[in-house]
Parts: sequence; structure tokens; C-alpha cells
Amino acid sequence: MVPGQHDRRGEAAARPALSGRRWRTRALAEWVDVVPAGELEPGDYRVVDVDDIAVAVFNVDGEYYAIEDVCTHDGSELTGGCIEGEEVICPRHGARFNLRTGEALTPPAYEPVPTLPVRVEAGMVQVMDDRWD
Ligand code: FES
Repeated sequence: MVPGQHDRRGEAAARPALSGRRWRTRALAEWVDVVPAGELEPGDYRVVDVDDIAVAVFNVDGEYYAIEDVCTHDGSELTGGCIEGEEVICPRHGARFNLRTGEALTPPAYEPVPTLPVRVEAGMVQVMDDRWD
């Protein structure tokens, strides 16, 4: 008998004891719509919420790149900073990040910012956060 089921006498099967460890389930990552491709001009960006994480999608000369919108120096948003080529400059203390790779290029940031896959599907720019799959 499977735990949770009842037998003919109405007695429930014993449930296995919890070990104290809680398991959290999460659906597999899915593509999230960001913006119609025609509405994101080169040099522009959009921020979208993906599973409660702010993700910034940039158009760099027609190529789309997505990063988590958080500076690894002190947690500031990276959007709002200047974009120079493939680089974004943190508006707070000036660290530079490569939008394609996420690499921290200048102090005071030393850790890369996470990058995410981007695609254009049926004219819509989409992003996915598959880091936890
Ligand atoms: S918070 Fe970005 S460089 Fe300090």
C-alpha cells in the first residue's frame, strides 16, 4: 500500500518519517517574453522579472545579451549605466562588465555577473534562466 492510501478497514498506510530535510520543487525553466524584437533598438535594454530575478536584456548592434541586473561589487542595478560597445558601466562606482560574457573588466567588481540565454522566437525576444535546472 502506498503511503497516504487507506486499506479496506480505513486505516492509513504509515508515512515515512521525514528526515528533517525539506525538498523544494521547482518547474523547469521556460522562455520568458521580453519585448518584440522590433521595439528593442541597438543600444537599448529592457528589464524583465524571471522567477523573481531582474534580468536585463541588451541589444548590442543587433545581437541580444542578457545578464542578471545586479552588480557583483555591491548589488546595484547595472541598468541605467552607460553602455559602450559590449560593455555596461555600473552607475554606482563605475565597474565595467562585458555584456556577452558577464566578465568583470574593472574594479571595484571582480566577480562576473551571470549571463542568460536569449533567443528571438516568432519576432519576440525571449530569455531563460536555466541555472537551476
Ligand atoms: S555597486 Fe557596481 S561598482 Fe559598486
